Amino acid sequence: MLKRFSISLEEDLLDDFDQVITDKKYKNRSEAIRDLIRNSFVENEWADDKDVMGVITLVYDHHQPNLQEKITELQHNFFQQIVSTTHVHMDHHNCMEVIIVRGKAAEVSRLADDLNSARGVRNCRLAMSSTGKHLH
Ligand code: NI
Repeated sequence: MLKRFSISLEEDLLDDFDQVITDKKYKNRSEAIRDLIRNSFVENEWADDKDVMGVITLVYDHHQPNLQEKITELQHNFFQQIVSTTHVHMDHHNCMEVIIVRGKAAEVSRLADDLNSARGVRNCRLAMSSTGKHLH
């Protein structure tokens, strides 16, 4: 059931928000507000170390000595948190690995930090998402 409520905002803030709505192609303000609220719930799940899901994206040079082995070893340390891993050979040097993770927020964050700190990793990003259990 939908409930209505009104929000008071400074005019400048509302103008900026309407610009965001246009840029992000939201249909209306309500849809944009719902998205912001759900995003804040997802942020809280991570901050409170709840069960979460996410995606770690890793770019590295596979010619770097021992790096491939290190990345495999780190993933075996967290086998319970890894749903699946996809490897893409991007060009002669560079590989991308996309790792879907689920588990306690602190554990999957630690995996991302460990991968990021491996020598030769050029980029490591953690996209924080949700199991959806607490989102409506
Ligand atoms: Ni590769």
